[in-house]
Amino acid sequence: MSGTVSRRMLAAWLREVGVDYVLRPSPRGETLDDIREELTDCRRCPLCAGRTTVVFGVGNPRARLMFVGEGPGSEEDRRGEPFVGAAGKRLDQWIARIGLRREDVYIANIVKCRPPGNRAPTPDEAKVCLPYLLRQIRAIRPEIVCTLGVSALNFLLGVEEKITRERGKWRERDGVPVLPTYHPAFILRNAAREAEVFGDFDLLASRLRLSPAK
Ligand code: URA
Repeated sequence: MSGTVSRRMLAAWLREVGVDYVLRPSPRGETLDDIREELTDCRRCPLCAGRTTVVFGVGNPRARLMFVGEGPGSEEDRRGEPFVGAAGKRLDQWIARIGLRREDVYIANIVKCRPPGNRAPTPDEAKVCLPYLLRQIRAIRPEIVCTLGVSALNFLLGVEEKITRERGKWRERDGVPVLPTYHPAFILRNAAREAEVFGDFDLLASRLRLSPAK
């Protein structure tokens, strides 16, 4: 890949070939392990220089519900698993609230290697890594994808939206409903907004016909 990709170019690329193309059922029946194997020692973008581990994703390969975050933080980079730090503990609480366990769902990120200083992934980094996430979605075929935070919303859907305006609104790509909500790290800093997340999780529960534990 050469040159710098603007958010607008990435959005156009995703709309034209990315999400619509990749979310079609895999004719080859690709598995998560097939995809993981391709990423062993991945050097496709500069994030490889600072990472300890490729954080592929974790959870039930047949999950009905999949979460997509932004990118691994330091704890995730060290342990090789997404959302295991403070934000992850909050996500686990939200999952428990709708009567599920972490092992029931699948959790992944827009990029699989830790961006330095916990910054958001750049459009270039997202463009390189996103096809693998989209293939994971196609392999799992969840009933719902819930995006966590603004980066996951915009990079997954190829849009440029504000999370405050778009959270709690259903989107769809190739028949896969997508519900954006806030990132748990944002809620750790803005506790007053957690009620909105609870509302979003109620939407997830009702669409999956789960009984929220509360
Ligand atoms: N934040 C994310 O977006 N993903 C993680 O895996 C951890 C923190």
